[in-house]
Amino acid sequence: MQLKDKTALVTGGGRGIGQGIAMALAEAGADVAIADLDIAIARETASKVEALGRKSLALKVDVADVDSVNHLIDEVATAFGHLDIAVNNAGIISIKSIAELSAGDWDRVMAVNAKGVFLCTQAELRVMPPRQFGRIINVASIAGKLGFPDLSHYSASKFAVIGFTNAVAKEVATDGVTVNALCPGIVGTGMWRGDEGLSGRWRQEGESEEASWERHQKTLLPQGVAQTPEDMGQLAVYLASAAHVTGQAIAVDGGFSL
Ligand SMILES: NC(=O)c1ccc[n+]([C@@H]2O[C@H](COP(=O)([O-])OP(=O)(O)OC[C@H]3O[C@@H](n4cnc5c(N)ncnc54)[C@H](O)[C@@H]3O)[C@@H](O)[C@H]2O)c1
Repeated sequence: MQLKDKTALVTGGGRGIGQGIAMALAEAGADVAIADLDIAIARETASKVEALGRKSLALKVDVADVDSVNHLIDEVATAFGHLDIAVNNAGIISIKSIAELSAGDWDRVMAVNAKGVFLCTQAELRVMPPRQFGRIINVASIAGKLGFPDLSHYSASKFAVIGFTNAVAKEVATDGVTVNALCPGIVGTGMWRGDEGLSGRWRQEGESEEASWERHQKTLLPQGVAQTPEDMGQLAVYLASAAHVTGQAIAVDGGFSL
């Protein structure tokens, strides 16, 4: 197995893309710690990892909080003995036009999506370089490569993740640590589905949420079909294995972005 004897951490791993990535890493042989703001769902994913015969642990974290993040990395490194692969996936979305956007909306999205990736990467780099091995995978978005209406703050946070990733990759390039960004396209998680998700909020008059979801897949994506958490897991396993791919922002988006 590709990732046998490797240890991994996935933030926001309780559901959605994070859960898909955690399962793919576990299927490839890694032991996987699951960290989430919601400890109950983190435990559910950890049980699924254990059902594959891997070690797991579930931990509560708020990635926007420096003490919480430092505590998390210490706990994972102690429990597993070392940390090889870190997927900084936790993120939030909010949908506001530039006219509606408040300073508080901006701060919250930047705190979780951009500062959260910075805090996690910094803490992970305390434990990885001494072993001359590390794989950091920051989950950005196609919204980190292209702007979208009503998502200016979200896009700004994801452009920040990609710039940060490229810069840090160069800083640690001789430490055996690679740092890459994974950019999902459209995945039918809580961010898209339901009345409060993007397809619910971007409904046309008289359109159902389901019809809006179908329309967005067909109009936004050249392949016409949404991606899955499993698709993101495949790229995460590749990035966790590749020694000489670093500083990149790779999209899994059915041909949407460059
Ligand atoms: N779904 C998509 O189409 C899509 C597209 C591009 C990028 N992304 C990115 O993928 C990542 C995962 O999104 P998803 O679609 O699975 O969303 P999701 O809402 O289903 O999952 C996000 C997870 O992050 C956790 N989380 C939120 N705030 C946190 C915090 N402060 N600390 C720790 N955990 C926290 C949540 O509890 C949840 O388990 C996010 O970074 C998101 O921006 C998603």
